Parts: sequence; C-alpha cells; structure tokens
Amino acid sequence: MDETLLKQLTHPPEPTLIPQPVTQSALPDQTFTLQSSATVGVVTPSEALDRIADQLVTQLRRSTGFALPVEPGTGTITLSADGPDSLGAEGYELRVESSTVTVTAATAEGLFRGVTTLRQLLPAKAEADTDQAGPWEIAGTEISDAPRYSYRGVMLDVSRHFFSVADVKRFIELASLYKLNRLHLHLSDDQGWRIQVDSWQELTKHGGSSEVGGGPAGHYTKADYAEIVMYAADHFMTVVPEIDTPGHTNAALSSYAELNADGEAPPLYTGTEVGFSSLTVAKDLTYEFLDDVFREVAEQTPGDVIHLGGDEAHVTPHSDYLTFVPKAAELVVKHGKRVMGWHEIADAELPAGSIVQYWGNDQAKDEELARKGVRQGAELVMSPANRAYLDMKYDEDSPYGLAWAGLISVEKAYSWDPATLIPDVPESAVIGVEAPLWTETLDDLAKVEFMTFPRLPGIAELGWSPASALDWETYKDRLAAQGSRWEALGVNFYRAPEIPWR
Ligand code: ACM
Repeated sequence: MDETLLKQLTHPPEPTLIPQPVTQSALPDQTFTLQSSATVGVVTPSEALDRIADQLVTQLRRSTGFALPVEPGTGTITLSADGPDSLGAEGYELRVESSTVTVTAATAEGLFRGVTTLRQLLPAKAEADTDQAGPWEIAGTEISDAPRYSYRGVMLDVSRHFFSVADVKRFIELASLYKLNRLHLHLSDDQGWRIQVDSWQELTKHGGSSEVGGGPAGHYTKADYAEIVMYAADHFMTVVPEIDTPGHTNAALSSYAELNADGEAPPLYTGTEVGFSSLTVAKDLTYEFLDDVFREVAEQTPGDVIHLGGDEAHVTPHSDYLTFVPKAAELVVKHGKRVMGWHEIADAELPAGSIVQYWGNDQAKDEELARKGVRQGAELVMSPANRAYLDMKYDEDSPYGLAWAGLISVEKAYSWDPATLIPDVPESAVIGVEAPLWTETLDDLAKVEFMTFPRLPGIAELGWSPASALDWETYKDRLAAQGSRWEALGVNFYRAPEIPWR
C-alpha cells in the first residue's frame, strides 16, 4: 500500500476543536497514545493546579480504567502554569508528541482552558462515565491559543422554572467544555424569587414558591448558592447574579405588600406575560429593599458584577425609569460591584464601569441604546435575541421554545460577528458575548439541553476564536464531531438536520 495512504488510514483523525484555536498545526509523524502506565505531572503544584489535574484524571480514570497517578513535576501529560505572562490570563500552549502531552499556561485559568482542549483532542468515548476500550490516540499537534473576548457567558433563567443545584452544576460542566467563563443566573422575575435574602425572608418563603405553570418551584439557600458559586469557580466560570428591576418584580411585590404603590400585595403569578409589574420608584422603602438585597447578593458574589435587569419595564413611567436606574445602580456600586443591565438601562445615567447587555433584534432603537451606553463609557456584551437567544425555536417543528425573535437555526446562531453587529460601535467597546436561555417553556434539564446544544458552542466560538477563524462551512463539520461527545456525556442535544452528524 502507498505509504501516504497507509499513514492516513492509521493516523487518528485531525482534531476538530470548538472553539477553533488561534493557531494549530499538525505534527504529522507523531501520534500520542495514552497508555495504562501514563502519569499526569503538575509542575509547581498548587491547590488550583491540583484541582485541575484531579478533574482531568477523575474523568479519564472512569472512561479508560487507567490509574493515572498525579505527581509533581513532569509526567506523560504535563500541566504547567509556569509559562510566560505573554500567554495572558486565559491563553495556553498545547503540544502533543509521540510520547508526551504538554499543556503550558501563565495562570491556573489558562491551564484549565488548555486542559479543556486536551479533553476535546481525546476520542469522544473519553467523556463516558464507564470503562471504554481504547486505543486513546491523539494526532500530533501544536496549539497556541487565547480568547478574543474576556466575557463569554451563558444565562440560565432559574426564575420562570426553578432548576436544582445538581441541574445548574451539570449546566456549568457542559458550558465550561466550550471555554465559557461567565454564568449569568436570572434569579428573580415575576414568576419566582430564587435567592435567599435573610433581611427579607418572604422573598423566598413566598416569592420562591411559584413558577410558570404552577410547578413545585423552589429557591437556593445561601449554602446552595455558595455550592453553585464554588462549582462554577472550579470550572473557571464566574457567576453573574441578576436581580431584575424595576419590572419583572411580581414575586417580590407579592411577598411584601409595602413595596407596592397601593400597599396591596398582588397574587403570585404563574403565567408567561411580561411587562406588568414595577417596583415603586417614589418609595424610599424600594431603595432600602434594594440596598439589602444587593448587599446580601454582593456578599455571596466573588465576581465583580451584579446585573440589575432593567428590561421591559413597560408599566414604569419612563421618567420614573430614568430616576430609578441611577439610584439602583448606585446601590450596586455601594456594595463594591460593577453594574450590568439589559440595554434599556443605557437611556439612564450609568456609573463608570457599567456593562450594557444588548439583546436587540436588529431594530434601530435598540442599537441606538447600545451606542448611547458606549458613549457613556459602558462596555457591551452582545446577546442579540434573534441570534444568541437559546430559547428561540430552531424551526417550526421545535417542540418547545418561543419564536418572538424569530426561528434560530444553528447556522443563524453562529453566523454573525460581535464586533460589527451594531453599526458605529468601536470594536474596543465590545467585551464579549452571552447566550441567554429563558425558561418559560423549559421545565426540566433535558429540555434545557435540547435548546442549548448544538447552538451554545457556536456562541462560545464567537466569543473565543479570532474573527478570521469564523466560517460556517468548516464550523458545521467540527460541530458534527461534537455529537459523539454529547452521546458519551448523555446530553439530550437536538440533531439539527443542517449538521452532517456522523
Ligand atoms: C429580555 O429578553 N427581556 C432581556
């Protein structure tokens, strides 16, 4: 047989990574095979590095059955965070040769991103939770990588339907596989209040007892929430908590009559209408309430951002809205956090360091609000509803999801550039992307997974990979290769017909 053909037949397939790394070149004569004798070496061990090594071997022990001892120094697989600072906070280099694999970064976070890539280089069955047959081959390769944007998020709405700590952990695991680094939790809305606030206990006791459709609902205790925050941190994701104000507040208003303009508490709400509730802008108590809530949420937030919502305040008179946003924002700043909010907040005066989350639908007025935010010095996170909203149906046959922002195919979710979507916004103002998942129609994790996969990896690639690497034709082929990984992980993904699944 012809030598080249033989090599093609015996060499493992070229890696199909998502997000596409900045540079990747094949080392064509080298193939690494993970053997039962392999070790994982940690150069300059630390708590953070040991945990990264432990996460890797815990998974690989399950699927390969190998012992994979973790040792200080170099190993068959060597993990090092002693690389040059030029690699940046999240950058890494990865080299796969015949007998060794080396992942080098300047930080634990960078090393974690590199290990994420290593997991994708291994055969998909490496992700299984039971013993699989080898061989565990990786085609020789050399990768140098770093993200395009610092903010790469996904949002889970735990208010419309409540999701358990275990569900949120699973969501974190799956999102972190695509190098996302922010978990935005939509913790309050008309239908339910989900985070314990000791100074206002009815918020969860009463306001946490409802959800869309009247299901069992629930809330996170402080211990639950700490568990989520810690699990996210272990996956190098920072939690961005959202307390939606001044609209989307029926659960709070139902919990405390005195927060209402007329002093009367409305009933709990289990429907899916939006835009009917508002905090009372003229009441001092409103700001005492928010001061307490933001203080307690800030205490539980190692990240530097609190999201104050600000969307769809349809029954708040606009002059009141313009009064409210700066006052609420000042309370967030008072508790040491940066303000983030949906793009409507940009019509009001924003404190320095604010982040405006664009959720428009190609409408000029929404784009203008984003520009107004930028003119005030705010940074932009791009979540265009007609592209990045994971709760929009894929097509007319999608069994759940909404369609108010249109149908969003896998191609449509992927085919846009965060830097150029809004005209006349300097590229430097855009700090990243986020894919929100609203859960009006999603009452369990299987449905969440179905809407999230396969679209989330596309948003993750828009956040990580250089603009020059974005290409639907090659992306859909790389995405097809993820299907077997999701099968190994038990992910309930949508087998979109536009993807050539194999
Ligand atoms: C939103 O979708 N109301 C931000």
